[in-house]
Parts: sequence; structure tokens; C-alpha cells
Amino acid sequence: MVNELADVLWADLRGLAHEASRRSYAPYSHVHVGAAALSATGVVAVGSNVENASYGLTLCAECSLVSDLVRQGGGRLVALVVVAGDGEPLAPCGRCRQLLFEHAGPALLIDQGEHAPALRLDELLPHAFGPDDLPTRSTP
Ligand code: THU
Repeated sequence: MVNELADVLWADLRGLAHEASRRSYAPYSHVHVGAAALSATGVVAVGSNVENASYGLTLCAECSLVSDLVRQGGGRLVALVVVAGDGEPLAPCGRCRQLLFEHAGPALLIDQGEHAPALRLDELLPHAFGPDDLPTRSTP
């Protein structure tokens, strides 16, 4: 039963992520990325990548997703799907792993598609630096 519910959840997030990839702005790389995630309180956030002629200013889909999450009041992300335009999983880049850590923590589940188990964020970003490190590591 739990697995059935989980399957529905992943299927919904995959659908939203794929739909978001069709609304990405990627005229330079043509890598159209969509992301969708669920928070612990049931907030669903989505995002698409937004490129820029000054390449370094490009916003990843996960960046847009975090913005959407905060706009809806924030929360702790528990499940994430990131796909390219073909609907297949795309690994979050290094910067986005850190960005996601701030709004999820180590246990965030990241979809690997229908035929593979989800990975935890701490598998993709081991020994992460995070908000908890600031009060303990600051010096006057
Ligand atoms: N991209 C994302 O949106 N998320 C990632 O985690 C990896 C890369 C986008 C950025 C750029 O628009 C395109 O993919 C090619 O790098």
C-alpha cells in the first residue's frame, strides 16, 4: 500500500517536472530542464531552467524550484524529480546540491526513474556544509 502511494507520488512529480521542462528558457544549450518537489507539509514546488546570453547567469531548474517553494511559504523538501526534455532524470549540478541542502537536509529523496531506487541527497553531497555549521564555526 505504502509503495502504491509512493508510486503515485513519484508519477505525479515526474509529470510536473516533465511539463516544467517544456516551459524552460534554454535557447543556448537546448537542454530543457524541469524540476518538481514535495515538501513535508505537502507544498509542491516546480521550476524550469532560465538561461541568459551571459552564460554564467543561467538559473538552473532547481534554483527556480527553490524560489517557488519560498514564494509559497517555504518548507522542508522530501522528494525531488529533475528531468531533461526527454523526461529522463538529470543529476542536479554541484551548486544546486548545496542549494537544495539548505531547503531539504540530507534525507531528500532524488528520483532516479521508474527502474532504480531514489538516492538521498547525502549520497550526492556527502559531508555537506549547512546552516547548522554557522553558529558553531563562527569566531569573533
Ligand atoms: N541545468 C539545470 O537546470 N539543472 C542542473 O542541475 C544541471 C544543469 C541546466 C542549466 C543550463 O540551462 C542547462 O541545464 C545546461 O547546462
